Amino acid sequence: MALLELTGVTRSVRLPDDRVLEILRGVTLSVDAGEHVSVVGRSGTGKSTLLNILGLLDSPTSGEYVLDGTPIGRLSPRARARRRGDDFGFVFQQFNLLPGRTALENVAAPLMYARGRAFWARFRIAADILDRVGLGDRLDTMPEKLSGGEQQRVAIARALVRRPRVILADEPTGALDVDTGGEVMSLLDEIASDTGAALIAITHDLAVAARAQRHYRLADGTLHPITLGAPGQVTEWVGDRPVSSPQHAVPSTFTSTSTPTQAPA
Ligand SMILES: Nc1ncnc2c1ncn2[C@@H]1O[C@H](COP(=O)(O)OP(=O)(O)O)[C@@H](O)[C@H]1O
Ligand SMILES: [Mg+2]
Repeated sequence: MALLELTGVTRSVRLPDDRVLEILRGVTLSVDAGEHVSVVGRSGTGKSTLLNILGLLDSPTSGEYVLDGTPIGRLSPRARARRRGDDFGFVFQQFNLLPGRTALENVAAPLMYARGRAFWARFRIAADILDRVGLGDRLDTMPEKLSGGEQQRVAIARALVRRPRVILADEPTGALDVDTGGEVMSLLDEIASDTGAALIAITHDLAVAARAQRHYRLADGTLHPITLGAPGQVTEWVGDRPVSSPQHAVPSTFTSTSTPTQAPA
């Protein structure tokens, strides 16, 4: 059984002038535990709406969402909120860190309402995860003193501190330069794999998307499976279509190749 299962999910909103905007028109998606999936699409196609529905921040207008066997539509608001906190970690384009709180306090914050050891050992747990994302020596630094890439690594640590089964990333590299974005995505991929979490990354960046195992394009309110990811293949986005472009080859990993390696003497 899939961990996440959307069937014919729609989402419409009524605009102030009484027109109805159909953002999602029937999305069907199934994601297994530990799977890495990417969704690309132009701005305004409903990517964030889809991610918010997956993460129980928003509800479908119609259709069904089954999370680990539980039809979400039947949960009370309280039960939904609990599942959201227990099962999901969110990473956003804007890192959404608490200003005036250290990296450590930011990462420990989601454990404030935990019980037992998770509460009492929250700073120890947060410090371990910050160490895992390479910021073990910046625990007491305020977010505003960190670079964009470091802030996103703090946000990743915060998303993971409750050991979610699903990481939802909405344009995680959108505010970062290409190299930093690549490093952040490598880290997110690795940590998701280490912890066995499913990773659903929403992006308009095909190089980011290409890292996942399965890829979709969101267009006209529905999801279309697409093929990406052969190294050196697709990087351009023309209209709403990916286009092959060998001169902008996507490296198969984002490990920086710009530093020439010294041959051993
Ligand atoms: N609550 C809302 N009320 C009105 N329009 C909305 C609402 N939420 C999203 N939209 C519109 O729906 C479309 C899709 O939004 P969004 O999911 O944020 O797209 P994306 O993340 O792909 O850029 C956009 O045109 C947006 O303005
Ligand atoms: Mg968006």
